[in-house]
Amino acid sequence: MTKGPVSTRAALSRLTTASTRSDVPPFMVMDVMAAAARLEARGTRVIHMEVGQPAAPAPATAIEAARLALANGRLGYTEALGVPSLRARIARHYSQRYRIKIDPARVIVTTGSSGGFTLAFIALFEPGDRVAVAVPGYPPYRHILQALGCEPVGIEVSAPTRWAITPEDLMAAHRAAPLQGLLIASPANPTGTMMSAVALTSLVRTAEDAGIRVISDEIYHGLDYAFAAETAAGLSDNGVIINSFSKYFCMTGWRVGWMVVPEALVRPIERLQQNFAISVPTLAQIAAEAAFEGVAEMEGVKAGYAQNRQVLLAGLPAAGLDTFLPADGAFYLYADVSKFSNDSLDFAKRMLDQAAVAATPGVDFDPVNGTKFIRFCYAGSGADMTDAVTRIGKWLAGD
Ligand SMILES: Cc1ncc(COP(=O)(O)O)c(C=O)c1O
Repeated sequence: MTKGPVSTRAALSRLTTASTRSDVPPFMVMDVMAAAARLEARGTRVIHMEVGQPAAPAPATAIEAARLALANGRLGYTEALGVPSLRARIARHYSQRYRIKIDPARVIVTTGSSGGFTLAFIALFEPGDRVAVAVPGYPPYRHILQALGCEPVGIEVSAPTRWAITPEDLMAAHRAAPLQGLLIASPANPTGTMMSAVALTSLVRTAEDAGIRVISDEIYHGLDYAFAAETAAGLSDNGVIINSFSKYFCMTGWRVGWMVVPEALVRPIERLQQNFAISVPTLAQIAAEAAFEGVAEMEGVKAGYAQNRQVLLAGLPAAGLDTFLPADGAFYLYADVSKFSNDSLDFAKRMLDQAAVAATPGVDFDPVNGTKFIRFCYAGSGADMTDAVTRIGKWLAGD
């Protein structure tokens, strides 16, 4: 407790009070994780379907490259834009996967895609700029924009448009008050839904024709089951593409991602990166470059997700959760639990306590309609998925 006169206490608290813009909401899934940890400490085996990360390690090629780099000794800073050979390898990835040519000079290595968002938002937007994001959507889009003084403009998406923002939705929001930006994610988190090539093309064209800058979060590319994901990099040279080694390459903890940006933004972003971070961790960049040689291994991991997805698609309806969004990609299934509860946070807590299955309440992604939804991550083991549907079935049946 601080001693001294009231005026001194007030002055002290002024010194330590957080800024208004840092007052972003927490991630409620953390509450579920903490509760799961408490249960585990008491000996319960919890099935984790709450955290959006692969259970598998990085490709063996990446781990081996990192080991060699460590053995060789010194790891210095790299160029702020990233190791040149990694930037070239990422550019080659676009020709291999999407058959499009990207100039390596437009590739920037970032600290995960999260680092890319901060750099992109600062480089693209002024404080006060309005940026459209889908609701439900990945919460940090809104929270980073808010912390930077921009205004996230939520556009509610729903079943008739396959849970994606349409050109009509975008223009309606733009007419209500001009937008400066649009954030697209396909496959999306939390829904797992994907936009068709036609839908993505017309949204990107509409935005750019209206002078709205496009950011495409392509972090779940490679993890598609229904049809192949289209990259916005093939549709326009004016958009900012954000991607990461976290998901397809199972490298969440390595904190390495990338951006493909318009030529005119390379130098401004380089200056930001120089000042913010100097460079992305060197060891992670070396491992990331070698990860591309581990695609065969990662395709095996993806085949496991595809099997898990089938277990849930068949098992959840049998367990009682029969309404969910098209699980096109990523490793998420967004299920409607409104038959059982209109409070998804409470539903998630009870499912954890009584069935020992941890999942994320939809309110994290959509403060309004998210009360009716739960997000399951199916990046765990096949045995866990089978066990989870059995546990949920028994729990919902009241056994
Ligand atoms: C849609 C989406 N974008 C970005 C991220 C951030 O990932 P990272 O910073 O590990 O690349 C995540 C993480 O879950 C995500 O789901």
